[in-house]
Amino acid sequence: METLQLETKVHDELRQGEAYAPFANDINGFEKKFYIESYGCQMNFSDSEIVASILNKEGFGATRNYEEADVVLINTCSIREKAEQTIRKRLTEFKRVKEQNPGMLIGVLGCMAERLKAKLLEEEKLVDIVIGPDAYRSLPGLIEEAETGQKGVNVLLSREETYADISPVRLDSNGVTAFVSIMRGCNNMCSFCVVPFTRGRERSRDAHSIVREAQDLFEKGYREVTLLGQNVDSYYWVDESVSNGSALNGAVANAVTFAKLLEMVALIHPTLRVRFSTSHPKDITEEVLRTMAKYDNICKYIHLPLQSGNTRILQLMNRTYTREWYMAKVEQIRNIIPGCGISSDVIAGFCTETEEEHQDTLLMMEFAKYDMSYMFFYSERPGTLAARRYKDDVPEEVKKRRLQEIVKLQNRLSLESNQRDIGKVFTVLIEGESKRSEMDWMGRNTQNKVVVFPKEAHRYKKGDYVQVKVNSCTQATLLGQII
Ligand code: SAH
Ligand code: SF4
Ligand code: F3S
Repeated sequence: METLQLETKVHDELRQGEAYAPFANDINGFEKKFYIESYGCQMNFSDSEIVASILNKEGFGATRNYEEADVVLINTCSIREKAEQTIRKRLTEFKRVKEQNPGMLIGVLGCMAERLKAKLLEEEKLVDIVIGPDAYRSLPGLIEEAETGQKGVNVLLSREETYADISPVRLDSNGVTAFVSIMRGCNNMCSFCVVPFTRGRERSRDAHSIVREAQDLFEKGYREVTLLGQNVDSYYWVDESVSNGSALNGAVANAVTFAKLLEMVALIHPTLRVRFSTSHPKDITEEVLRTMAKYDNICKYIHLPLQSGNTRILQLMNRTYTREWYMAKVEQIRNIIPGCGISSDVIAGFCTETEEEHQDTLLMMEFAKYDMSYMFFYSERPGTLAARRYKDDVPEEVKKRRLQEIVKLQNRLSLESNQRDIGKVFTVLIEGESKRSEMDWMGRNTQNKVVVFPKEAHRYKKGDYVQVKVNSCTQATLLGQII
């Protein structure tokens, strides 16, 4: 039950700045205990698994109870102001425990650490360690120093670090689905976004280490991997161990593109599902779409963040595509992969957005018929292009009202999308018991829709594929029965 709840959080509230507290698989045999809580996007959750692996090697076991931890870590997100506020509040609670137990160390990890750097130590007096996303290998050293009373900061960003050689410790896993990081950083510079500042330059991880990790997961019983990056379509890795690096029709023969990587992972086993996130509309290639169409086990689902449906706003956002380009992309997806699930991210009330321009976003949502969206109102982030160049001039109540309209429309689109599935039969990968009832299974179809159905007398288990006929639905879930 526990795992499922957390699993749902990861998927549904991923971008809302929600936290989860990973749980120690086995804390016996470890001398010391650490507690880690993660906020923000899936990259952060994955990084926490890297951190757990690094700490395990140093004799630290994870605990679910921060009050008994020697080291309390909070992996932070800076994407919106509210995310940072949530983290400050949580830090206050940790600091209260530290006042009773001065030996406890508090470490701030992730994007907020990177954004605020040493300033965070001034602002948050009881914090001992500040460490950015590329510096986790130095965490044991910083902990050692902090134990002697010396505060530690390492916020160096790297052009190479991908943690390729570190096997993540799967925290709170359902044992069926896992995330595999394929690249770090982002070179895109969307004007609203803090990520290029907190995560640094884009770099791709060794393709062989990705395939090995996915293979290993498969051997351990996992049946789905999600390849993770801020902009997966720009994945590009050159295999230096292969001698033939000469240009062939303009392409480097030993280069691995994202399409190629997808294929490599898909070929591990036909029963290992492959997903990926996130695609940038300007970068997703026809080759990727054709690769998706070619392999049954590459899931027919694309998260294709729109941000705005208006070309002028898209330009201000530096998204580098137009309304028409985006529409053509959606059509191309529908042509090459009929029935493909599409979801989106939408920002309401970006700088100077007019009522008409907001309407363009709503119209685009209708056009794309998103199955699901993550929706936000614009939150100005210090240091970003937008903060420096444009005035955050849409009043808060207008932003919120526009967001409400967007949410209301998406709710209808989600419901309509689910209603279209009534009567259809889907292959569903069982992820675990339903949150609501232990008599039911919960899984997903290839389009990433949650499907709930009675276990009945069937002898299925987590990780099995079943054929499920959809009988009814809610806005968020398909309800059916095994056939
Ligand atoms: N790399 C991913 C997005 C990462 S951030 C991509 O390009 O799609 C996740 C989402 O948060 C973004 O897609 C955007 O919709 C939202 N977001 C980012 N910065 C924001 C800001 N300053 N205010 C509001 N929403 C923001
Ligand atoms: Fe941010 Fe844009 Fe990079 Fe996504 S692609 S992380 S929105 S800069
Ligand atoms: Fe947040 Fe950093 Fe991810 S700002 S959304 S945790 S990359």
